[in-house]
Amino acid sequence: MSPPTAVLVLVLAAGRWLVCAADVGDFSPCLGVFHRAWPPKGLAGTPVCQRYDNQYRFATLYSRRRRSPWFSAYLYSPPEGKRPTTPWKFEPQLAYPGAGGGMVPFPPGPVDQNVVASQAVEHDYINSTFSRGHLNPSLQHRSHQDRCATFTLTNVVPQKEGSNDGPWAALEQAVNRTLGAYCLGPAHVVTGVVPYRSDDRWLGDRRVAVPEYLWSAYCCPRYDGSLPVELRGAFPTHAAVGRNDPNSGEEIVPVDPTAKTPFRGFDVRTMTLGTLEEILEDRLGGAVSVFYEQCSGPE
Ligand SMILES: *[C@@H]1O[C@H](CO)[C@@H](O)[C@H](O)[C@H]1NC(C)=O
Ligand SMILES: *[C@@H]1O[C@H](CO)[C@@H](O)[C@H](O)[C@H]1NC(C)=O
Repeated sequence: MSPPTAVLVLVLAAGRWLVCAADVGDFSPCLGVFHRAWPPKGLAGTPVCQRYDNQYRFATLYSRRRRSPWFSAYLYSPPEGKRPTTPWKFEPQLAYPGAGGGMVPFPPGPVDQNVVASQAVEHDYINSTFSRGHLNPSLQHRSHQDRCATFTLTNVVPQKEGSNDGPWAALEQAVNRTLGAYCLGPAHVVTGVVPYRSDDRWLGDRRVAVPEYLWSAYCCPRYDGSLPVELRGAFPTHAAVGRNDPNSGEEIVPVDPTAKTPFRGFDVRTMTLGTLEEILEDRLGGAVSVFYEQCSGPE
């Protein structure tokens, strides 16, 4: 190799490393998913820019201690086609900061011990009483690649099937219909978890923290003003909290006693962004702000 070629190879290698190093620890490469490039405030964790097929797809605030996300944030687009069949993936840079870029499918055999130590793995969910609950759902994306990218365990929390296949799925569909029909510009969605007051529910042996509730909020500053009556108040921003435990009290989300068995106790309550932020502040012990200036003002 001639010296100039060697220098060029080194420069290319360094550039590649810089791109890869940005996946974990900093939201700057994927700020575009947030309204006004402003990530939610009041939650502490490890930023992950979720990269798949060498493009940033969405953002996750990950909790290493809980081995599960606090929230995932993404841009909504109206879905096309079917839910993809794609392997579950992990984030190599949570285990090895210098690892190559992007999420990686789990290998067929045993998983590297540092990966197991640093994040949830498929074994945590197999034979458990919890399903894999997407925070960023595959349903709310047009491109096949964006949909495949949601199948990574750093975007997943232990969610009861009664919620995941019931009221929470209905919420995801309702948000899809509302944004698909009336949002005229970018729609920023953030979906996260509410922990138990005393952090004592785990999947496995203190492996993956189980959330008591899931929450979600969207911000769509530019929308069709001719909203039907039932959607007044749904723009520019709206929020919801869903139960993940039928035995929780009813102070945050009341239970519909007439709901059918597999879904009873997994109700979803829609609410204003302000009410959601009060619930999060009360539970987390500090002010939480999901969108810049409550999603007021232009994009
Ligand atoms: C799950 O349960 C099945 C049936 O009881 C068992 O054969 C299998 O080994 C279990 N898998 C894991 C990963 O524990
Ligand atoms: C999602 O929204 C699109 C566009 O409004 C609609 O065509 C589609 O049927 C919706 N899908 C689901 C599962 O709600």
